[in-house]
Amino acid sequence: MRKFAFSGGKGGVGKTFLAANVAMALAQRGRRVVLFDADLQLANVDVLLGVQSEFNLQHVVNGHLVLREILTPGPCGIQLVTGGSAVQGLMNAGPKRMATFLSQIEELQEVADVLIFDTGAGIDNRIMTFLRLADEVVLVATPDPTSVTDAYATAKVLIKKDPHVPISVIVNQARSDKEAKAVFGALNDITRNFLGRELHSLGSVNMDLAAVDSIRARQPLMERNGQSQVARDIAKVAGALDDLGTLRLSA
Ligand SMILES: Nc1ncnc2c1ncn2[C@@H]1O[C@H](COP(=O)(O)OP(=O)(O)OP(=O)(O)O)[C@@H](O)[C@H]1O
Ligand SMILES: [Mg+2]
Repeated sequence: MRKFAFSGGKGGVGKTFLAANVAMALAQRGRRVVLFDADLQLANVDVLLGVQSEFNLQHVVNGHLVLREILTPGPCGIQLVTGGSAVQGLMNAGPKRMATFLSQIEELQEVADVLIFDTGAGIDNRIMTFLRLADEVVLVATPDPTSVTDAYATAKVLIKKDPHVPISVIVNQARSDKEAKAVFGALNDITRNFLGRELHSLGSVNMDLAAVDSIRARQPLMERNGQSQVARDIAKVAGALDDLGTLRLSA
């Protein structure tokens, strides 16, 4: 099971939108996918996907259920874990509960090929816990200069803790492929110059009204408008993410 954490520092860049739709695109490629909503402040994956989960991470933190038992079926065959405010409870529950949680994460490999964490804005310890749990951190950046500096700041904190941490980037909400390339170039340049590391590009997802439309309609884009340009961009990113396992193993 490959574990990816979607992050990026800045709020509103499209972490949740991409985590959810890439999860569905991976499921459409035949992968068994669990999407873990690890955003403490604004857990909203269930709203975005139009599903209601009966159970959430609190039941696991309390010890009433195991992680596998709180999986909720979602669109395109993905399965959902609703974390929300229980993430804080998990962090406060002490090392024993945390160790149990970590072993339950690993047990998910019996039912999943891919686990995607959607994290909130910022880089506090609670977010870092999930980023460090992942095999790969996926930074979402937009052409907004503050997004590029926030993504860089996240990379900096991660690299400081682990110089070899695998980090890749999706550029979201660019107006053209040219702009998207420039954003990745700028972020990779500062990371190379100041941190001595190269970032891996997973491609880009351009600004598209079909994205806004799907969110307003609370209908998953990959189901509602699978032929839109944005859905095709996402399918390509999912392909790149799928190839990443092989790429990292051969590195
Ligand atoms: N490619 C895109 N094209 C158009 N709009 C987009 C695109 N990606 C995201 N958006 C818009 O950006 C908004 C914010 O997206 P999202 O909630 O996924 O961001 P986030 O990074 O998860 O935010 P937060 O930090 O609050 O969790 C969405 O409501 C959507 O309208
Ligand atoms: Mg979000």
